[in-house]
Amino acid sequence: MIKTLIVGNWKMNTDSFEAYKLTSNLIDNINHINSVIKVICPPYIYIPKLHEIISSSNLYLGSQNMFYKDAGAYTGEISPQMLKEYCEYVILGHSERRTLFEENDELINKKTKAAIENNIIPIICVGENISERESGLTKNKIRNQLLNSLKNLEENANISIAYEPIWAIGTGVAATPEIAQETMKYIRLILQEIFNSDTANKTPILYGGSVTDQNALEYLNLTDINGCLIGGASLDSKKFSKIVEIAAIK
Ligand code: 13P
Repeated sequence: MIKTLIVGNWKMNTDSFEAYKLTSNLIDNINHINSVIKVICPPYIYIPKLHEIISSSNLYLGSQNMFYKDAGAYTGEISPQMLKEYCEYVILGHSERRTLFEENDELINKKTKAAIENNIIPIICVGENISERESGLTKNKIRNQLLNSLKNLEENANISIAYEPIWAIGTGVAATPEIAQETMKYIRLILQEIFNSDTANKTPILYGGSVTDQNALEYLNLTDINGCLIGGASLDSKKFSKIVEIAAIK
């Protein structure tokens, strides 16, 4: 049985005061909920400070990205060696990184391996854009993203996958539960092809894209879902806490 995972991706939002306040509110609201894994992914710069308050709670920290080398002349990058002191999770291959920063599956594969080597659980994002969906290319795209970004991993790799259709991110147009279920079921099938059925069945698959406290239950009730990756609604402590509460009782 996979424990439900609710992950907040703050993206490039909050100032230091807001980051602190949001985190303390979340600890107050949802620290007592043990049946759900709760992860917040703030901007890098707030991670050490938030770690101080989060380490005595049962919330976890994740990073929104990282580089794959341990150290060296890589101006502006953050390494898994640096992150592992603070973070249990790292989001890799988010569509914003793929489209705005030209990250490809080969790079995401290197980052995935580096995260695993450093005991950080990668949350690898996949998803189609609107024209790929309309041309019937969704499964093709997702299969390729998974095959290439999960290349040459151990059979029992400890990873999570997030299905984030690009057209649903930050648009208020969430995928229908039917689309989400169909695609996540397909993702599990591909994980079985890449690894084996044991690993496929124990890998958390998350849905992300315009999830709010209003629609979270529709997703969390789906057969192949194990949690949500939340953008906008994770910046509101009440909404994020509500989603965690829904995940705990569904
Ligand atoms: P929204 O929840 O704002 O649509 O963002 C989803 C997302 O990109 C999470 O990584």
